[in-house]
Amino acid sequence: MRSSLALGLLASALTLTAAAFDCKKAQVAGHIYDLSPLAREITLDSNTTTPPTVTGTRYVLNPCAPLKAEPDSVPAIDRCPDGAWVCRSITNYKKDEKPRVTEVNSVAGKSSKDEPVLEAKASGSEKPAEFHWILKGAEVEKVAWSTDIKFVCNKSAKDQDLPTIVGFKDGVLSLEWAVPAACALGAGDEKPPSDGGKDKEPSGSSGGGFFSTMFSFFVVVSALYLVLGVMYNYLIVRATGLDLIPNRAFWREFPYLCSDFAQHVWSMVSGRRRGGYSVV
Ligand SMILES: *[C@@H]1O[C@H](CO)[C@@H](O)[C@H](O)[C@H]1NC(C)=O
Ligand SMILES: *[C@@H]1O[C@H](CO)[C@@H](O)[C@H](O)[C@H]1NC(C)=O
Repeated sequence: MRSSLALGLLASALTLTAAAFDCKKAQVAGHIYDLSPLAREITLDSNTTTPPTVTGTRYVLNPCAPLKAEPDSVPAIDRCPDGAWVCRSITNYKKDEKPRVTEVNSVAGKSSKDEPVLEAKASGSEKPAEFHWILKGAEVEKVAWSTDIKFVCNKSAKDQDLPTIVGFKDGVLSLEWAVPAACALGAGDEKPPSDGGKDKEPSGSSGGGFFSTMFSFFVVVSALYLVLGVMYNYLIVRATGLDLIPNRAFWREFPYLCSDFAQHVWSMVSGRRRGGYSVV
């Protein structure tokens, strides 16, 4: 049926929808997220013991903008390249010696033109409970580095909570960030591409999930009922004119049934407002 075909197309189109990146109005699969409460430079430090030294790994990231230039106190050779959104650096500490930066590079963002891509990896028109922030970074030893932040909607967490490092493997830094900012605000104004054109229903069913499905189902069933009813009346009953409409007697009564019902409800409501029940 037409509506189920349209829904199938919609679901497949929603799996990968990328739009220009705007932290305040980030669009993922037709839904809008305000990631701006997370707009700040975050530093994640961890140490591992690597006798006779200690190896410190530091990630600095800002999900909303490239990192600010590091101060002049940091030697140029120890700084992340310009345009990095996520910087990874390794510092080696040896007792009584000056710490030494042994690695520093961009895990996300190569130039000022780079922007992260938001991807929903869920299908269907439901609000995705999680989505991914992905940006390619430097190429190191023929391996393209990148960062993949999995945003998870959690309203009981705080936007100040830090992301957790899932791992750094094969050049991909995986982070997970469960914050209220990762919860959808509402339907986006950008319609999914397959929804356009001739399939528009008068209900404006672009945003809703279950109810718009039910509504289009209802419309299709009603249309079928009408067409089959008219055919039946024409071919079998051999009716003409208005008598072609199936169950015409019922539909003639229908407006009166509606107004009776509305009057009944109104008298109940207004009777209660006066402080008592009117006689029914
Ligand atoms: C890592 O180790 C260095 C040297 O021992 C220390 O200065 C630094 O504070 C440590 N960082 C963390 C996050 O523990
Ligand atoms: C949401 O965050 C709260 C507070 O950090 C945590 O206790 C809870 O387990 C999280 N819920 C989910 C589903 O991860």
